[in-house]
Amino acid sequence: MTELIEKIKREGQRLPGGILKVDSFLNHQVDMGLMKRIGESFAEFFSPMKPDKVLTIESSGIAPAGMTALCLKVPLVVMKKQNSAISDAERFGVNVRSFTKGLDYELTISKKYLAKDERVVFVDDFLAMGEAALGVHDIVTQAEAELLGIGIVIEKSFQPGRGKLDALNIPVYSLARISHMSETALEFIE
Ligand code: G4P
Repeated sequence: MTELIEKIKREGQRLPGGILKVDSFLNHQVDMGLMKRIGESFAEFFSPMKPDKVLTIESSGIAPAGMTALCLKVPLVVMKKQNSAISDAERFGVNVRSFTKGLDYELTISKKYLAKDERVVFVDDFLAMGEAALGVHDIVTQAEAELLGIGIVIEKSFQPGRGKLDALNIPVYSLARISHMSETALEFIE
């Protein structure tokens, strides 16, 4: 997606450890016009698969996934990383390791919002190590639902996530794929 790639080139900050900071339009301040066009692009790709709902993980996935759900005219379901006193006791859950943040969390979804045979797509802001997406795949499998595909705003193709998902034969549609990133260089896969 040319507009997104140009925005990353203009506003992305390359931090040590292969981290791309995009706080000005995705992770802190959010450019909703861009999110709308991202949602339209994902919806165009996923619409022929006829998904019943869009899944994402709190918090930065919500904006792009929400616009995707709006365009597809299906519900958005936000998977939780923290449980509270009002969380449903009946839920699917899996432990996920966040390498970037250096911690583990329990990813959960209420059984009310993911039913057997439901057809779902997962949309998230970044694909890095792929552990979050693998966690979603695990939960969808527990629910006996079907993961049709994964939509990613920014894929760091130099990290292992893409390979892990390809090995599971899950279609991954990424709008910007970074092949190489250093303090002096930023390269994309066309
Ligand atoms: P994974 O998401 O592919 O499993 O990889 P990883 O464990 O490395 O990612 C942990 C968190 O860090 C995720 O956010 C992911 O989106 C984010 N992340 C990974 N690489 C980058 C990067 O280069 N730049 C930015 N800005 N974020 C990155 P999260 O824990 O789900 O947090 P959030 O959605 O609440 O922000």
